[in-house]
Amino acid sequence: MARTLMIIKPDAVSRNLIGEIVRHVEQAGFRVVEMKMARLTRPQAAEFYAVHKERPFYNDLLEFMTSDRVVPMVLERDDAVAHLRKVIGATDPAKAEPGTIRKAFATNVQNNAVHASDSPDNAAQEIAFFFGAAAAG
Ligand code: RTP
Ligand code: MG
Repeated sequence: MARTLMIIKPDAVSRNLIGEIVRHVEQAGFRVVEMKMARLTRPQAAEFYAVHKERPFYNDLLEFMTSDRVVPMVLERDDAVAHLRKVIGATDPAKAEPGTIRKAFATNVQNNAVHASDSPDNAAQEIAFFFGAAAAG
């Protein structure tokens, strides 16, 4: 079993899609092992997405991620990181495969409903960010 971090982003929280998205990942074989609601401060969002600080979309991304509450959760199953990236689909919903969360629920390349860790090392770091190092498993 492996763990990864998913965040339901402000666009999906504000459109009452928490339940639909949790149902989608549970039906894809994930167990929700940690979950909470949070309102990110700007410094917290900046730290979480620090890898993108030189990108042109960074400021907009921080505005977006602090615009409403988010729902971070730890998801568990075999090959969790790679599997969740498949289940969420491409960053830009116009390029996402049918049946993916972003195809179903994202609005555009920024307001794309969910975040998912992109490597096992990042998953451990991101899980620790929200839930403490012990939750990384
Ligand atoms: P995430 O980290 O949220 O799971 O998304 P990702 O790996 O699919 O995409 P990434 O390249 O890491 O980008 C992080 C988030 O920044 C916003 N974004 N905006 N305006 C733009 O061109 C643009 N590009 C990316 C999205 O919210 C993206 O998920
Ligand atoms: Mg990313």
